[in-house]
Amino acid sequence: MSDDPDVDLEARLEETAAFQPPEQFVEQANVSDPDIYEEFEANWPACWEGAADLLDWDEPYDQVLDDSNPPFFEWFTGGQLNASYNALDRHLDERGDEAAIEWIGEPTDEANRTYTYAELHREVNEFAAGLRDLGVEADDVVTLYMPMVPELPIAMLACARIGAPHSVVFAGFSADALATRMNAADSEYLITCDGYYRRGDALEHKAKADDGLAGVEHDVETVVVDRLGDAYDHPTGEHDHAYADLVAANEGTTVEPVSRDAEDMLFLMYTSGTTGEPKGVKHTTGGYLSWVTWTSQAVLDIEPEDTYWCSADIGWITGHSYIVYGPLSLGTTSVMYEGTPDFPEKDRLWEIVDAYDCTQLYTAPTAIRAFMKWGSEYPAAHDLSSLRLLGTVGEPINPRAWKWYYKHIGDEDCPVVDTWWQTETGGMMVTTLPGVGEMKPGSAGPPLPGLDVRIVDVNGDPVEEGRAGYLTVNRPWPGMLRTLYDNDERFVSEYWSEYSDTDSDDPDDWVYFPEDGAKIDEDGYITVLGRVDDVLNVSGHRLGTMEIESAIVGVPGVAEAAVVGGHHDVKGEAVYAYVITEDGYDPDEPLRENIIDTVEDAIGPIARPEAVVFTPELPKTRSGKIMRRLLEDIANGEALGDTSTLRNPDIVDDIAASVGDD
Ligand code: WTA
Repeated sequence: MSDDPDVDLEARLEETAAFQPPEQFVEQANVSDPDIYEEFEANWPACWEGAADLLDWDEPYDQVLDDSNPPFFEWFTGGQLNASYNALDRHLDERGDEAAIEWIGEPTDEANRTYTYAELHREVNEFAAGLRDLGVEADDVVTLYMPMVPELPIAMLACARIGAPHSVVFAGFSADALATRMNAADSEYLITCDGYYRRGDALEHKAKADDGLAGVEHDVETVVVDRLGDAYDHPTGEHDHAYADLVAANEGTTVEPVSRDAEDMLFLMYTSGTTGEPKGVKHTTGGYLSWVTWTSQAVLDIEPEDTYWCSADIGWITGHSYIVYGPLSLGTTSVMYEGTPDFPEKDRLWEIVDAYDCTQLYTAPTAIRAFMKWGSEYPAAHDLSSLRLLGTVGEPINPRAWKWYYKHIGDEDCPVVDTWWQTETGGMMVTTLPGVGEMKPGSAGPPLPGLDVRIVDVNGDPVEEGRAGYLTVNRPWPGMLRTLYDNDERFVSEYWSEYSDTDSDDPDDWVYFPEDGAKIDEDGYITVLGRVDDVLNVSGHRLGTMEIESAIVGVPGVAEAAVVGGHHDVKGEAVYAYVITEDGYDPDEPLRENIIDTVEDAIGPIARPEAVVFTPELPKTRSGKIMRRLLEDIANGEALGDTSTLRNPDIVDDIAASVGDD
């Protein structure tokens, strides 16, 4: 025993491998009956009617699941509904004056903005009318390239209202990334803003959007939100329209929500894959909305009276599902914060939880690891007792970080849900139900009820408990992606070719492969180990190594490049680039900087290489494949495994030596 009670507590937590859901949580939880697993199993797929019942439908659906054409599964077919109606209109009678969005800007001297459901409804209607004035019609893809300003969810809901799918491009992505996505989706409308604040500086954004538009092959009408006021004078082109003008011109206008088929596209979200070309993941109105609403209720335990906070960016799927669509469909208050957790001080998040009495916090392991590094004095300085539930998403969470979160943020009173899912799955898939299952730090938990998740070997046979294998989903679910935009073939080859009998029209022969490795324990708890494809997970953000490599080989003087992920204490993974120069080019500092800048320009600052290692050769197998594993080991400073099948074994030591020099 030590004199410091904190040290004892840490020691006790350290030894604990499983935690029971707190009693006071279970008593009030939305889901607390353990029979739910058996009931859903016995009643599949009809069990998902309950999820659809959480929504208001204009037309009831005829069929829960149409599996006649696998893997093109369809859900709630024949039904009609509107997502903006479900997120807004239906709450007006009872909750019109309650806050829908609490928006907190980064500057601390700026007034925060509260949008009640009535106010949000009003502005969404006015902007929906504005979009129509511009010519936007149902099924036109509208691109949203915006940071965390309230006009982002407003624009999403305005699009949904008129049946125009949105495609949100993360504001931190580069101009090139914007152009690629607008071209791929044939998107003729862009909503963006003049700029935003980051750590006290006003960053310009419109010029970046304009650079992107220069690479778009067709005409684009652009709407510009004024975030910075006079702080930044943005360029104005002939196709630019001020957001404020469009809204003012439609003051008080209401727009009838357009009834959409359950299977109509609600939005597209581009995500990184193994090839350079990002994948346009298509989500639909009925299945997606049911899924995110049900999981928000069952896993995040959201109730209308809550002040719920997901600190993700809406530019990623987590923000779509769990800042906007799920929480608002449930009529709760969703908190939105513009800035970073360490501005102006490292206690900004805790100050917000305290000031707003937040009831849930849903964040990423990378953030938790940063909080740990900063120290527990920051949360300790605030009253966090309003919190009832904590969640994480985006990457595996190590047990130490889990326990720190549980203790220092949750005060051992809040269940922690570690939720595994993907852009493609629409919403959560593997996680404990916080009012039902015990929690095992480091393991996400069992699959949600009604799902059939198996961990298999390369042949598709289940692996033994505790052994690493591949995660597979053996049954469709309502929130699943329907296809890749305009590319059914790639949809099948990317997700369904590995473990399915692709010639079969029996739905049971089709297995979804998310490209993650995992293991399972004797209780059926799944620990997700990470991606098994060439996709990196940097601070919970998916980045394709091919995208980064193709940017690097575009730099004059670069002959060949290989990008891998190396371990990083806070980011989880960091980008390591191994580069071979062309004859006549020196592997010098200016070239290194040029490579780093080029990656930032091509993708965005999140893809910035941690290290650029110049090497005369890359380790390759006899058949000429780059041995990425070895490069990863080198990045991690690990002992190098078997190099006997290498064509050029000596090179490995040389590269390892030059990484050591860095
Ligand atoms: C990883 C984010 C371990 C995984 C919602 C997945 C996780 C990829 C977890 C999807 C978790 C997400 N534990 N790994 N709880 N959650 N991942 O599309 O590798 O940005 O395939 O969706 O993140 O990333 P995406």
